[in-house]
Amino acid sequence: MPVINADLRVTANDLIAEETWTLRFHSPELAAQLRPGQFLNILTSANVDPLLRRPYSISNVVGDECEIMYSLVGKGTHALSQKIPGDTIGVLGPLGNTFGYEKSFGTAIIIAGGIGVAPFPFLTRELQQREIPLITFLGARNSARVVSRGLANLHVATDDGSEGFHGNVIAALSAYLDDHRVENPMIFACGPNPMLKAAQAFALDRGIACELSLESEMACGIGICQGCPVERHQGERKFALVCTEGPCFDSNDILFQEQQHA
Ligand SMILES: Cc1cc2nc3c(=O)[nH]c(=O)nc-3n(C[C@H](O)[C@H](O)[C@H](O)COP(=O)(O)OP(=O)(O)OC[C@H]3O[C@@H](n4cnc5c(N)ncnc54)[C@H](O)[C@@H]3O)c2cc1C
Ligand code: FES
Repeated sequence: MPVINADLRVTANDLIAEETWTLRFHSPELAAQLRPGQFLNILTSANVDPLLRRPYSISNVVGDECEIMYSLVGKGTHALSQKIPGDTIGVLGPLGNTFGYEKSFGTAIIIAGGIGVAPFPFLTRELQQREIPLITFLGARNSARVVSRGLANLHVATDDGSEGFHGNVIAALSAYLDDHRVENPMIFACGPNPMLKAAQAFALDRGIACELSLESEMACGIGICQGCPVERHQGERKFALVCTEGPCFDSNDILFQEQQHA
């Protein structure tokens, strides 16, 4: 499928939780192609420093419009937060692979940490269209940071106990599975690396299939600069490129380093 590289018109840019925004832009071509798990490499402003595109998960597709979700971090996301309807952003995509939602499993267990929630409204919609049961575990710093829109069957965990389970999201899932029988589950996880590493260990311990959507520093987003390697456990090559071979990986395939941080 052709990759689109175009300046696209912003149609909405809304603050939806503390320092968390959703931005929509108009593109019937991308809307028709995008699948859950994929990302877009976005030039947030012509003046952003460094002058690099930033990768963003596709959060949802609504008619001819595509949506991303972002939290304020640095210059790129500050530039994004200034966009108003009618402005444009430079979008390259669709990029990367998809979540394995077409694999054979009984119940999807979604684990999201912080802005790692971004790809899951789209995945939730796809699973619901296929009538696949799902449970969602969402970890956030506090209640003000909980983003529930587009999710289903939601269990919240907060670091400060201001909403839902008091503790981390993997502990919340562990407690849930101790009390509930879930048929043939498969985990889909996205969030900071410490959370993904914990999800990987949890899935291995419980014998649950698991996919991780990884973040990595990126430049080109299309496999040229070799700037986004992730170390692998298995396979012929020691490294994979997050932009072209991911961002979604079988959790057993990924070797997290102690020095890797979110
Ligand atoms: C596949 C993928 C999907 C992502 N999806 C989302 C999403 O849906 N929502 C979201 O909010 N974020 C997402 N991110 C992170 C996002 O791309 C940005 O890194 C984040 O928004 C910060 O951008 P910024 O311009 O505000 O910060 P910046 O000012 O660019 O960076 C803040 C700090 O991050 C580091 N950094 C960031 N990018 C690079 C780079 N290319 N090279 C070197 N250092 C870098 C630097 O240390 C810098 O000091 C995703 C990342 C990946 C790889
Ligand atoms: S970002 Fe350039 S190879 Fe992945």
